[in-house]
Amino acid sequence: MGERCSTTTRISLPVRVQVRIERDRAGEGRTPGCGDSRRHLICSRLAATLPGVELIDLPDFGPDDFAQITAGASDPFGTDHLGIVWQEKTDHVGLIDEGQLIGHAGWIASRVRAADGQVVEVLGLGGVMVHGDRRGSGVGGVLVRGTMEKMRASGGSLAMLFCRPERLSFYGRLGWLPIRDEVTVEQPDGTIVMPLCTCWTALVEGESMPAGGLHVEGLPF
Ligand SMILES: CC(C)(COP(=O)(O)OP(=O)(O)OC[C@H]1O[C@@H](n2cnc3c(N)ncnc32)[C@H](O)[C@@H]1OP(=O)(O)O)[C@@H](O)C(=O)NCCC(=O)NCCS
Repeated sequence: MGERCSTTTRISLPVRVQVRIERDRAGEGRTPGCGDSRRHLICSRLAATLPGVELIDLPDFGPDDFAQITAGASDPFGTDHLGIVWQEKTDHVGLIDEGQLIGHAGWIASRVRAADGQVVEVLGLGGVMVHGDRRGSGVGGVLVRGTMEKMRASGGSLAMLFCRPERLSFYGRLGWLPIRDEVTVEQPDGTIVMPLCTCWTALVEGESMPAGGLHVEGLPF
């Protein structure tokens, strides 16, 4: 690991809720103040419409759906070499463009224990993936921003994710902050120090992640 945080297919989807999503137009989210505060919120005010694209709930999301987005790529997250066992997500959303699934994100409720013993409830974001043909034009930002809105609507107040260092700028412009202290997670064989970067964001104004090292009570997400 580097520096530690120092052909889509036409598908039929089980649509439960469809929500028009919004897109960042001006600088794709590069607005001063977004992501540089310990008390920050989703920068949804940056968004503008991305015509034809919808963020939908995917309650029955499964491997076949995911394979449509990865288009058969091996190691789509670039983390297989770490051998980490990941937690399955309980909630899934997908980005649909004219009936094609072009992106996915999922989340799961988790508990995080701080160095002082305080335990906080977080929503763990993971499985963030945009089809290779659609990257680099703002789709990922739309996906994550819309997912954050849904996480907040589901009752979440704090969110957390793990990513490679090269994704810090992507998440940073969406309001996520890196955790510089050590983060440990549970694996089938015991506790490990998370080799990936850890980021958090407030879904509700005034919420904040406890300072210092953190331990995720369960598998990472
Ligand atoms: C991470 C991922 C979801 C981002 O999706 P994306 O559609 O490329 O995301 P965006 O287009 O919104 O942003 C990507 C970059 O393109 C830039 N960008 C966005 N819109 C742009 C535009 N209109 N023109 C030029 N560049 C643009 C952004 O600035 C961003 O740069 P940054 O990463 O340095 O901040 C995608 O790369 C992916 O699926 N990767 C593989 C899986 C993965 O690593 N997932 C993350 C797990 S934590």
